[in-house]
Amino acid sequence: MEKIRVMIVGYGNVGRGVFAALGNNPDMELTGIVSRSVERVKKELPGTPVLPVEDAAAWKAAFRPDVAILCGGSKDDLPKQGPQLIREVNTVDSFDNHSRIPEYWASMEAAAKAAGHVSVISTGWDPGIFSLERVLAGAFIPGARPYGFYGLGPKGGLSMGHSDALRTIPGVRDARQFTHAIPEAVDRVRRGENPEFQPGDMHTRECFVVLEEGADKEAVTRTILEMPGYFAPYKTTVNFVSQQELDEKYKGFPHDGLVVAAGVTGKGHSAVAEYRCQWESNPEATANVLVAHARAAARLAREGRSGAFTILDIPATYFTTLSREELLKHWM
Ligand SMILES: NC(=O)c1ccc[n+]([C@@H]2O[C@H](COP(=O)([O-])OP(=O)(O)OC[C@H]3O[C@@H](n4cnc5c(N)ncnc54)[C@H](OP(=O)(O)O)[C@@H]3O)[C@@H](O)[C@H]2O)c1
Repeated sequence: MEKIRVMIVGYGNVGRGVFAALGNNPDMELTGIVSRSVERVKKELPGTPVLPVEDAAAWKAAFRPDVAILCGGSKDDLPKQGPQLIREVNTVDSFDNHSRIPEYWASMEAAAKAAGHVSVISTGWDPGIFSLERVLAGAFIPGARPYGFYGLGPKGGLSMGHSDALRTIPGVRDARQFTHAIPEAVDRVRRGENPEFQPGDMHTRECFVVLEEGADKEAVTRTILEMPGYFAPYKTTVNFVSQQELDEKYKGFPHDGLVVAAGVTGKGHSAVAEYRCQWESNPEATANVLVAHARAAARLAREGRSGAFTILDIPATYFTTLSREELLKHWM
């Protein structure tokens, strides 16, 4: 069987996760990495071919990718890189700015159709698997409203966006933010109340902050608690820790979440559907989902399809290497 030739675009946490995930998927092979910081990546991965992302002619010739997995950031990288790269190659990405997905989809759809390529956008776990579960729960229990809760375990889930926001505050050297679901809120949803929540009703936020030498603790605390959107709407606790404590006790990228929807069937019998994920490494989990979507993108392209797709548009059989016979016999 000919392997699917995969190229990684951008080498950060998710890029590292894709590198590792490809090793666990024998039908795929990494043919190369493209980056804006070639020397940095070469240093980390001696022996792996790395080329500058801008030089499309060079990487197309050297790597001949069937699919490129875009691992850049959603805020600044993907809105630029997505529409550029889809002109050259089929792509898969994890664009996760939920409110801007319609706009991003439209730009990728137009560019992918014009180029005759397949673009799979906004996949990972949320958006991604959780989007699919929300849609299924809504379809199977009409009227049920799907809710997303994050950080259900005792340690909570590391929010990378909120950790980044903390690190922008003057006086903060390093920081990590853990999100916790409020158990009573989960119970209300499970009871079928379909409550009207404000953001602060569902989650609390716990911050671990390392200060710069001589920084003003109270000023930093105030800035955190008053930060609009990120912390102001939530019950937030701020803990000051040493760099060593942060690195040892709060390391890694753990995250978890739950999609839950409740309603009624028939003549008013209660119905609850739940889908739960627990990840010791959020970027690795995201990468694994991206890699399965790269398989689907290659298959869609082989069928002559083009345009922008989401997880909602792709049959589950396209994600797996299992044969139809195997699926019908053992997985149904
Ligand atoms: N859908 C989901 O469920 C989901 C879940 C998690 C994350 N995500 C998305 O995945 C995106 C990527 O996350 P990430 O954690 O991989 O971000 P990241 O580590 O900040 O990497 C983003 C990009 O920054 C560059 N970079 C990374 N480390 C660098 C360094 N030391 N020096 C210079 N440049 C560096 C890399 O591009 P170059 O190699 O080109 O320099 C990399 O592709 C996030 O923005 C988020 O939107 C989605």
